[in-house]
Amino acid sequence: MFSKKISNISPSFTIGISTKVKELKNSGIDILNLSIGEPDFLTPENAKNAAIEAIHNNITKYDAAAGNKEFRKAIIDKLKKENNLEYDIDQIVISNGAKHAITNTLIALLNPEDEVIIPKPYWVSYPEMVKLTGGVPIFVDTKKENNFKLTKEELIKSITNKTKAIFITNPSNPTGAVYTKEELIEIANICVENKIFILADEIYERILYVDNFTSIASLSKDIYNYTITINGLSKSAAMTGWRLGYTACRKDLAKIISSIQGHLVSHPCTVSQAAGKEALISCTNDTKKMLEGYTKRRNLAIKMFNKIDEIDIIQPDGAFYIFMDISKIKKNVNFKDSFSIEVCNVLLDKFKLALVPGIAFGNDDFLRMSYAADINDVEEGINRIAKYIETVKK
Ligand SMILES: Cc1ncc(COP(=O)(O)O)c(C=O)c1O
Repeated sequence: MFSKKISNISPSFTIGISTKVKELKNSGIDILNLSIGEPDFLTPENAKNAAIEAIHNNITKYDAAAGNKEFRKAIIDKLKKENNLEYDIDQIVISNGAKHAITNTLIALLNPEDEVIIPKPYWVSYPEMVKLTGGVPIFVDTKKENNFKLTKEELIKSITNKTKAIFITNPSNPTGAVYTKEELIEIANICVENKIFILADEIYERILYVDNFTSIASLSKDIYNYTITINGLSKSAAMTGWRLGYTACRKDLAKIISSIQGHLVSHPCTVSQAAGKEALISCTNDTKKMLEGYTKRRNLAIKMFNKIDEIDIIQPDGAFYIFMDISKIKKNVNFKDSFSIEVCNVLLDKFKLALVPGIAFGNDDFLRMSYAADINDVEEGINRIAKYIETVKK
């Protein structure tokens, strides 16, 4: 009766957990929620004021499909200054969040049955987005000893004559791993040789605990032509609800993305765009303060997890997640289908702590904890995990 495309689409795991947490909270049960990938900081004042001003100035009519020109100019300046990337105005399309920027890009690129490589573990929405846009997700296993970063060899093995694109998430959600320049060059050159488009999801790029970040598109002219840089303001400026993301890519593709967007949604909300432009222009200090907050929590989390022998964590060099290997307790846990879901259910029911099961990201031996939360909650959350581990050790 309905489209075949939706027959094998799963509901979002993370949204499902948030809904369960809300229900429990509404019934009076106090849950410590470290499951969501949303900054606990507030949208910077300057950005909020710019939106209020836009309303008073009646910036409330249709605008360009690719997004507000001044905002696109601010994005161009940001990409040049921070990412060593040169784009013209007609290479930028502002969308309703990075999710929408990715979806527009997939619609623009994919023919039915085209394959899109998704390194595991992956951000939950990629596979469903690929399926919804008519493509076929091809999952590639990566190794824990490489912090789950894709290698050239793993990539080569997964390429077929149907491969059209690949997702590279840098920094990664769920692992927080960050690729070095050398690692990216190896992968990106293979993509260029095989005419594979790179969806470079760099939404966490400003939340970084190492010195250097390399934008894939900055690596060479050829790589630039095959790369669609995806970014947005949800994470870096705590603007999740404003729904602002963007693509930066070659002109012919940007024109198609803009035209798709024009037909589907016209453009993102003009008032949101006014706030987004201001966030890029004048909120660098707010982002810096948020990073200071994340850094403290990250360091605390690393210290505490290092004391729990049964848990190994992936070195979090960016983003605000801890991806923890709990496979050492697997033999002590009774579960039917999924080990990580079982552990998350016990943590939620008995320890009132919400985390995300690794199976949501394609790895059932892991759990993801977000530290985009008050530092006391991060500490309490890890204490509860440690207590749970004590109960299963016995
Ligand atoms: C890797 C990654 N890409 C994209 C997004 C979507 O961001 P937005 O809120 O801008 O749609 C998220 C949000 O969790 C994410 O983790």
